[in-house]
Amino acid sequence: MTIDTELGLMTEQLSVFLMQATLPSGDYMKICCIGAGYVGGPTMAMIAHKCSDIQVHVVDINQTRIDAWNSDHLPVYEPGLQEIVEQNRGKNLHFTTEVDEQIRTSDMIFISVNTPTKQYGVGKGRAADLKFVELCARRIAEVAEGHKVIVEKSTLPVRTAETVKRILANASHEATFDVLSNPEFLAEGTAMEDLDSPDRVLIGGESDKAIQMLVDVYAHWVPKERILTTNLWSSELSKLAANAVLAQRISSINAISALCEATQADVDEVAHAIGQDSRIGPKFLKASVGFGGSCFQKDILNMVYLCEFYGLKEVAEYWEQVILMNDHQKQRFARNMVRTMFNTVSGKRIAILGFAFKKDTNDTRESAAIYVCRDLLTEQANLAIYDPKVPESQIRADLEYVFKQENGELAERDRKLIEENVIICNSALEAADQAHGVGIMTEWDEFKDISPAELYEKVFKPAFLFDGRNIMDHKAYIEQGFEVYAIGKGLLNS
Ligand code: NAD
Ligand code: UGA
Repeated sequence: MTIDTELGLMTEQLSVFLMQATLPSGDYMKICCIGAGYVGGPTMAMIAHKCSDIQVHVVDINQTRIDAWNSDHLPVYEPGLQEIVEQNRGKNLHFTTEVDEQIRTSDMIFISVNTPTKQYGVGKGRAADLKFVELCARRIAEVAEGHKVIVEKSTLPVRTAETVKRILANASHEATFDVLSNPEFLAEGTAMEDLDSPDRVLIGGESDKAIQMLVDVYAHWVPKERILTTNLWSSELSKLAANAVLAQRISSINAISALCEATQADVDEVAHAIGQDSRIGPKFLKASVGFGGSCFQKDILNMVYLCEFYGLKEVAEYWEQVILMNDHQKQRFARNMVRTMFNTVSGKRIAILGFAFKKDTNDTRESAAIYVCRDLLTEQANLAIYDPKVPESQIRADLEYVFKQENGELAERDRKLIEENVIICNSALEAADQAHGVGIMTEWDEFKDISPAELYEKVFKPAFLFDGRNIMDHKAYIEQGFEVYAIGKGLLNS
C-alpha cells in the first residue's frame, strides 16, 4: 500500500468517524426525502451514489410515481439518471410510500414537495401554495420521535422556516428538531451534472451541529469551498433571488431580440458581443420563444407577492416586468407566425417541433410551446405536434389546462377545438407532412439533424420555418427555398 493510499484511507475513516460522532443514533446515517419528483428523485439518487455509508429513502404519497421509480421507466427523464438509480436502487437508495415509517426512523428529513403558485384565495396567482409543505411538517410533528434534522429542499418564500418550526413545536411524541434551508439549484436536462459538480451548495440554519451534519453529507463529493453556510433567511431568499436574476437575463436578451428584429441587428451577434465582457459573461443570454419551466415564473411571482406584502411596491413592479416581458415574447412569436403566413393560419396545418420547456427533459410545465399552441389554435390553425420525450397525454392535458376558464372548467367549444385541431406525431417529418409552416419550440439536438431537403419535400410551398430557438442552419434552409423567421433576426429572406 502506498503512502497516498494509506493517507486516503485514513482520511476516509476519519470523515466517517466524524460523521458518526455527530449522528444522533445508529451506526449509519439514514435520510428520508418527502417528495419523489424532479428534485427529490435525482438529488437523493446522487446522495446515495456518492455516500455508500448513508441509507436514503425517498417517499411520496403518489403510488404511481413510486412504482415508476422502482421500474425501468423512471417518471423523470434526465440524462445519466437511469444509470445512477439502477446502480444504487435496493442497496442504499429506496423508493416507497411508507411515509410515516421513514419519518420515524430517519435522522435527517428533506422536504422536497411541490410549491406551486396558489390558484385560490388570498395571493391567488402570485403567492406560493405552501399546503404540501405544511402537510409534511404536520406529518413529521405527528409521527417523529427523538431528534430530527429537517431540511427545506423545496423552494420557499423567505421566512417559511418560521412556520415549519412553529408546527414542529407541537410534536406529539416530544420530538425535537433543527430546521435547515438547503435550496436546490439544479436545472432540468443537466440535473445529474449539476448535482455531481454544483457551483455551490447552500445551507442556512441556526444550529452549528445540524449545519455540520448536512455539510458532512455534501462533503463526500463537493469541495468544501463550494459549500456555503448562511443564516436561514439568507438561504431561503437566495434561492428566489437566483431564479429571479437568471430569468431577468433571459427577459433582457428577449427584449433586445425584439429590438434586433426592428433594426436588422442579429441577437446572437449582440449576445456574443455583450457576453464577452467579463462582467456580464456569456451564459444565459440565448434569445428564445420565452422561458418556461416549473420555477422561474412561480418563484418571481412569489417574490413579487412578498415585496407587495412588505410594502415594496416599486420593487414588486420591477420584478413583475420580467414575467410580462416573457409573456410578450411568446405572444410576439405566435403573432409573427400568423403575420408571416399571410395573416391567417385558419385551417392550415402547422408543425410544432418540441413541446418540453427545454431539451433533454420530459417536463412541460410552463413551456412556451403551450402558449404558442394556444394562440395558434385560437387562430384556428391545425397543429401537428412532435416531441421526442413528451407523451401525447401530457400534451393534450397541457393544452386543455391552458384553455380552462376562471372556474377551472373547459368549455365544450374549447375541448372540441383541441380534439379536432391537434394531432400528435412520431417524428418531425411526420409532423411537417403537408404543413404550411414549421415552428421550432424546443432546442432538441435531433432537430438540427433534419435534412432541409427532406423537410422541404414534405411541406406546402411557400415553405416557412419559424425558429424560436435559433438552432437551425438558417442559410441551408434559405438555400433550400424556405422563408425563415428567426427570433431576434426577423424574416431572413427580406
Ligand atoms: P414535483 O411536482 O416533480 O414533485 C413533488 C412531489 O411531492 C410529487 O411527487 C408529490 O406527489 C409529492 N408530494 C406532495 N405532497 C406530499 C406529501 N404531503 N407527502 C409526500 N409526498 C408529497 O416537484 P419538483 O419539480 O420536484 O419540485 C419540488 C420543489 O423543488 C419545488 O419547491 C420546486 O420549486 C423546487 N425546485 C425544483 C427544481 C426543478 O428543476 N424542478 C429545481 C430546483 C428547485
Ligand atoms: C432553473 C435554474 O436554472 C436552476 O438553477 C433552478 O434550480 C431551477 O430553475 C428551479 O428552481 O427550478 P430550469 O428551469 O430547470 O432551471 O432550466 P433552465 O436551464 O434555467 O431554463 C429555464 C428556461 O429558460 C427554459 O425554457 C430555457 O429554454 C430558457 N432559457 C435558458 C432561455 O430561453 N435562454 C437561456 O439563455 C437560458
